[in-house]
Amino acid sequence: MPQAEPCTYVIFGATGNLSRIKLMPALYHLEVADRLPEGTVILAISRRDWSRDKWIEEVKAMLVDQARGGLDQEAFQRFSSRLHFIQGDLTQVSTYYAINEALNTDDEFPVNAAFYMAIRPADFGNVIDNLEATGLTSEEHGWRRVIIEKPFGYDLESAQMLQNRLHRCLNEHQVYRIDHYLGKGTVQNILVFRFANVMMEPLWNRNYIDHVQITHSEIMGIEGRADYYDGAGALRDMIQSHLLQLLTLVAMEPPASLDAEALRDEKVKVLRSIRPIPQSAVHAQAFRAQYSSGVVEGKKAKSYVEEDGVAEHSTTETYSALKLYIDNWRWRGVPFYIRTGKRMAETKSAISIRFKEPPQHLFRNTPAEKLKPDWVLLGLQPYECVRVEMQVKEPGLEMKTRTTSLDASFRQESDQAYDAYEDLLLDVIEGDRSLFLRYDEVEWAWRVVDPILRVWAMERDYISTYPAGSWGPQETRRLFEKEDQFWRHSLLPDED
Ligand code: BG6
Repeated sequence: MPQAEPCTYVIFGATGNLSRIKLMPALYHLEVADRLPEGTVILAISRRDWSRDKWIEEVKAMLVDQARGGLDQEAFQRFSSRLHFIQGDLTQVSTYYAINEALNTDDEFPVNAAFYMAIRPADFGNVIDNLEATGLTSEEHGWRRVIIEKPFGYDLESAQMLQNRLHRCLNEHQVYRIDHYLGKGTVQNILVFRFANVMMEPLWNRNYIDHVQITHSEIMGIEGRADYYDGAGALRDMIQSHLLQLLTLVAMEPPASLDAEALRDEKVKVLRSIRPIPQSAVHAQAFRAQYSSGVVEGKKAKSYVEEDGVAEHSTTETYSALKLYIDNWRWRGVPFYIRTGKRMAETKSAISIRFKEPPQHLFRNTPAEKLKPDWVLLGLQPYECVRVEMQVKEPGLEMKTRTTSLDASFRQESDQAYDAYEDLLLDVIEGDRSLFLRYDEVEWAWRVVDPILRVWAMERDYISTYPAGSWGPQETRRLFEKEDQFWRHSLLPDED
C-alpha cells in the first residue's frame, strides 16, 4: 500500500472529552503502529492559554492510562514532536488566519489538512463558515477534509439545513461524517461473514429468516451528558445513527465492489426500502421508556430524572425499541426488532437472527415435539462471537433434542485490539470514505425515525419506566408479531 501524504491534523476542541478519550489515544496508537505518514503534525486548537510544552504534558497525562501496554517512551517522543498548539476562540476569524498562516508559511505544517470537529454540534456551521471565509477549505495547494461527529442535525429538517450550509462551503468529497460503529472491526466482520462465505447467503432472506434482532444495551447511565442527552434521547442517540447502520449491513445486497460509493449505494437502498411508519402506527412499531431508580452491579442507582442536569419532568427516553420492515424482495414481511437502552442489565451489542421452523413437523409424536428454532448470533461487543445454534439429538434411547452451537468466534489472544477511531482517523488521511456516511444515508435514516420523533414530541405527559439495571420494560413485548418471539438477551443457548 502506498504511504499516504503527510497532513496537518487540526483538532477543534482539542482539550475536550472526545479528544482526550478517543482522538489523542487513537493518534498515539497510530504512531506506535508506524501508520502516521512522515511529517504529519497534529495541531490542537483551544481557548486555553497554554504553551506547546504545556499541551504536550497534558497529552502525556491523557495517554498514561490509555496507552495499550503502557506508554512507550520512544513512541511518545516521536509523537510529541508532532504536537502543536494554537490558542484561539472559534468564533474569531483571527483563529483561522493563524491556522492559515501556519499551513501556508511554516514548512513544518503540511499543506494537506484535516479539520476534526470535536466541538458542540451547534458550532459546526459557524466553524465551517469561518474555514471557508479564510480560504482554509480551498484545495488549490493540497487536500482539505472536514470530519464531523454525530449528531448530524436533530431531525430531518435540521439535517437538511446543516447539509445546505456545509455544501455552500465544501464539496461532498471533503466531508467525512463519522459513525464510529463503522470503524469497529466486529461491525466490519458482518460484511465478511456475509460476503466472504457462501454458506449463509442462500438462507439470508424472507424464505428462511423469521426475524432479526439488533440490540445495544449499556449498564452506564448518561455519565454527566444531560446537557446533550436530555434533548436527544435514545432514538436519536443510538438508533438513528449506529443501529440503523448495523441494520443496513445485515440487510444490504452484495455491493458491486468494496469502494465507498458502491458500498454506500447499497446501504442507502436498504434505508430507502424501510416501510415508512405512519403516525397512526407509531405505537404499534415503537416503544420508549426511561429508567427509574434501581440496582446496577449491586449498587443503588438513581432514576434518570434525578441525574444532574436533567429537567425535573423530562420525558426523554433512555430506552427505545422499534419494529421495522424492509419492503424489498429479500426481506418483505420479516420484522427487524431494534432496541437500545441506558442503565440496562448488561453492556452488550449483538445481532441475533432467528430462522423459521422446518416446513414439516417430523418429530411431532416424539418427546422432541417442541423444537427450538435455529439462530445465527453475532456478538459485537464486549465479546466478539459468531455462533450458529442448531438442534441435535440427545444421546440416549429417546428421541429428544438439545440445542448446540457451532462457534466460529474469531479473536485470538495474539490479535491486536484497536479502537474504532484509529481505523477512521487513518482513513481520513488516506482519503478512504467507505466507512463514513454519505449525506443521503443520514437523510434516509432521519426519514425512518422522524415520524416517531414527531409523535413522541407531542406526548410529553407520560413515559413508561423500567428499573435501572433491568433488561427494560415488559411492555415492549407488544412489538412482537408472534407469541413465540421474544428478546434474546444472551448469546448462549437456553439462558433467556
Ligand atoms: C455514542 C452515544 O455515539 O455511542 C453514546 O452518544 C453511547 O450515548 C455510545 O454510549 C456507544 O458507543 P460504544 O462504542 O461504547 O458502543
